[in-house]
Amino acid sequence: MAKPEYETHEHDVIVIGAGGAGLCAAIAAAEAGVSVGLICKSLLGKAHTVMAEGGIAAAMGNVWPEDNWQVHFRDTMRGGKMLNNWRMAQLHAQEAPDRVLELERFGALFDRTKDGLISQRDFGGHRYARLAHVGDRTGLEMIRTLQYHAIHQGIDVYMECKVERLIKDGDRVTGAFGYWRNTGQFVLFKAKAVVLATGGIGKAWKITSNSWEYTGDGHSAALWAGADLIDMEFVQFHPTGMVWPPSVRGILVTESVRGDGGTLKNKDGERFMFNYIPEFFKGETADNIDEAERWYADKKNNRRTPDLLPRDEVARAINSEVKARRGSPHGGVFLDIFSRRSPDYIRKRLPSMYHQFKELANVDITKEPMEVGPTCHYVMGGVRVEADSTAATVQGLYAAGEVAGGMHGSNRLGGNSLSDLLVFGRRAGMHAALYAKNFGGQLVADSGQVESIARTMLEPFNRSGGENPYAIQADLQETMQTLVGIIRNEAELKEALKRIEVLKERAKKVRVEGGRVYNPGWHVALDLASLLTVAECSALAALERKESRGGHTRDDHPYADDEWGKLNVVLRMRDGRVWVSREPLPEMPPELKVLFQERK
Ligand code: FUM
Repeated sequence: MAKPEYETHEHDVIVIGAGGAGLCAAIAAAEAGVSVGLICKSLLGKAHTVMAEGGIAAAMGNVWPEDNWQVHFRDTMRGGKMLNNWRMAQLHAQEAPDRVLELERFGALFDRTKDGLISQRDFGGHRYARLAHVGDRTGLEMIRTLQYHAIHQGIDVYMECKVERLIKDGDRVTGAFGYWRNTGQFVLFKAKAVVLATGGIGKAWKITSNSWEYTGDGHSAALWAGADLIDMEFVQFHPTGMVWPPSVRGILVTESVRGDGGTLKNKDGERFMFNYIPEFFKGETADNIDEAERWYADKKNNRRTPDLLPRDEVARAINSEVKARRGSPHGGVFLDIFSRRSPDYIRKRLPSMYHQFKELANVDITKEPMEVGPTCHYVMGGVRVEADSTAATVQGLYAAGEVAGGMHGSNRLGGNSLSDLLVFGRRAGMHAALYAKNFGGQLVADSGQVESIARTMLEPFNRSGGENPYAIQADLQETMQTLVGIIRNEAELKEALKRIEVLKERAKKVRVEGGRVYNPGWHVALDLASLLTVAECSALAALERKESRGGHTRDDHPYADDEWGKLNVVLRMRDGRVWVSREPLPEMPPELKVLFQERK
C-alpha cells in the first residue's frame, strides 16, 4: 500500500479549538513571543462559547459592593459540592475581574449600570448579581472580541481542520495529526507544546445544547496519549432547553430568563421550585421550610428565588415534575417571564430569546410562557491539569476550558464557564509558551506513527460490508440519553457499558461511500472513536461513584457521601483499555477552609 501523503506545519505552540479558551490561549502564547497555530474544527468564531449567553461571572462588585473573590470562590465550591480543585477555583475567582476588564480593553461592549459601570446580572448559585453581560449574547460578544484581537497577533489560523490524534516522541507530546474537512487531505502539526481547548462531549447525548463539533475530541485525544481524565461522571443538564418543536429540542434557553425574573411553573400553574429547596440551602438561611420560603420570596432577596438554585437542583426538579405528570404538553415545564416583566424589558434584556422563540417555535415570550426542559450542556469532567499552569499529566500537553477537569467540581455555576475560559485559557497559553521556549532537543514527529494513524482513518473506505456511521451515532446518543442521563443506577450503567461495547465492535466495521472530499459520512465515522471513548469514560466513572452529587445522581445511592466527597474518579488508558481508580482531592489550606464557616 502506498504511503499516505500529508502536509506539515510547524509551530512552537499549537492550540486545538478556537472557542473562548482556545482564542485566549493563542493570544497569550503569541504575546509571549512564540509562533502559534490555532486549529478550528469548523469556522473561526463558531464555538459553544456562544451558548454561554447570560454572562461572565466575576466578583467586580459593581452592583453589590459586598462582593469579592472570597465570596465567588465559596459559591463556586458550594455549587460544585466541594469537589472542585480548590486552587483552580481560587485562581478563577481572583483573576476573573481582571480578565473581564481586559476583554473590555480588547473591545467588548458590556451593558452598563446607571453609573456607567459594567452591569452585572443574577444567576443561579451566585450570592450576588455578578455576571458581566451583553444582553443575552455575552458569549457571542466574547468570541467576536477575542477573534478580532487574535487575528492581529500574527497567529496562523487553520479552519475546518479536525485533529484526530496527538503525536508523541517518547513521553512527550510533539504535535497533532488530522485532516482538512473540505478536501479530506491529511495534515501534521509539529509543535513543542499543544494546548487542548476542544470544549465538551455533548454530542454523545441525544438532547443537547451542543452543536455537531462537540464529540469529545480533546478528551479522547488526551486519554489516548496517556493523560489522566477526572470527574467524567459529572455531566451538566442545563435545566432549560427548548422542548418544542422537535427539530429545535435541546437548544439553550438562557438562565438569564430566570436571572431577570422568569419563574418555572408546572401545568397547574404552581411555582414548583419551592418544593425542591434542598436542606443545604435551607440551612444556610433558615432553620425550617417556612422561614426559608419567606427568605427566598423576600423582595430584597428576590435574586435568591429557588428558580435560581444551582442547575443540578433545578434540572432534577423539572425531571420530577415531568415524571409526576405535572409537565407541559411536550414533556417539559413552563417558564414564564411575561407575568412579571414588561414587553419592553423582555425585548431589551433578552433579545435573542425573544427572536429564538418567535422564529423557531412561534411563541411570543412577552405574552406566553416558554416550554422548557433539561438539555445536556456541559461536562465538568476532563483532562486532569495542574491548577496554575494547566499542564496535563503528559509532558507538553495543556488543557483549558471545558476540556479540562477540576475547576467546577461536580456542578458548574452558570457564568463560570466564560470566566473559566478567560482565566485558564490565558494561563494555558502563557505556560505552553514558556514550556516551548525551554524545549530541549529536537522536535520529532515519527512518520511511522503518523502513517499508521492515517491508514486507520482510511479504513472505512476500504470495507466491503459494514454499517452506516449515522446509525451507530444515533444508537449511542439514545443509550446515553436513556441510561446515563440525569438520574442513573447500577443496572442501567452496566447496561449502558454493555451496549457501548457492542457499538465499539460495530464501529470497527463502519463503512463509508464516496471519496475524501467533503464527506460528512466519513467525518461522522471518524468522530465515533472519540464519542464512544468519552461515553465509556462517563459511564465507567458514573458506575464507580456510589453516591449522588451535583451532576451525578444515582437513585440507588441517593445521598452525598462524605468519603466520596474527598475523592476524584480518575480514568487512564493503559494497554488499550480504560482503567478506573479513586484518588484523594488536593487538600484545601486552612485560610480558605475558614471561609466556609461564615454564614454569609
Ligand atoms: O444559561 C446560560 O446563559 C448559560 C450560561 C453558562 O452555561 O454559563
